[in-house]
Amino acid sequence: MSYKAIIFDLDGVICSTDEYHYQAWKTLADRLGIPFDRTINNRLRGVSRMESLEIILEKAEQAYTAEEKAAFAEEKNNLYRELLHQMSTADLSDEVRDTLNALRAKGVRVAIGSSSKNTPFILERIGLGNFFEAVADGNCITHSKPHPEVFLKAAAMLGLDPADCLVVEDAHAGVEAAVAGGFDCAAMGDAYSDERARWHLNSFGELNGIA
Ligand code: BG6
Ligand code: MG
Repeated sequence: MSYKAIIFDLDGVICSTDEYHYQAWKTLADRLGIPFDRTINNRLRGVSRMESLEIILEKAEQAYTAEEKAAFAEEKNNLYRELLHQMSTADLSDEVRDTLNALRAKGVRVAIGSSSKNTPFILERIGLGNFFEAVADGNCITHSKPHPEVFLKAAAMLGLDPADCLVVEDAHAGVEAAVAGGFDCAAMGDAYSDERARWHLNSFGELNGIA
């Protein structure tokens, strides 16, 4: 199968910022006395900050106002940004860097499709600020995954049809979004076994054999 472009999710695919999302939400949930674990955390993959908060609050014993929820989301984001500030180019693995370079050298175009509003900052931290030809992220969408909007935006920025692009995802919501948009999807990490994905990656480097 030859794809003209690959659209990568960011958190949990390009870098391990999914772990920082977990730690920041865990700190907030503990402070509020709300049960939160890694199983619940997996439901937050790919969905927006406010939707993630709503999922966490399902286990809350009290109702919160819209103002309180906005403050919680901001508190989490501040905790998360503290962790992001500690990131550097060392947080881009050799495997991801080498694979991205090899794909681009073969003429495969590369883009980002992420629900995160922190995407530009993270790409800068890990030294990929100018690497991707197109970046569609949480700042330019009105629906987060599983809606296909962010991937359709990335494909449009590239001037390509979804059928020409492969999406790489670690979230079930992301696989669903890709398929809904008419993209083939390569699933890894938490979404590895998702049957809607065309490819199942044990490692990021396996993309070399696909594209
Ligand atoms: C996605 C993550 O990439 O971005 C989600 O998988 C997160 O867990 C979402 O909620 C929004 O991120 P941010 O950085 O805008 O809060
Ligand atoms: Mg992800």
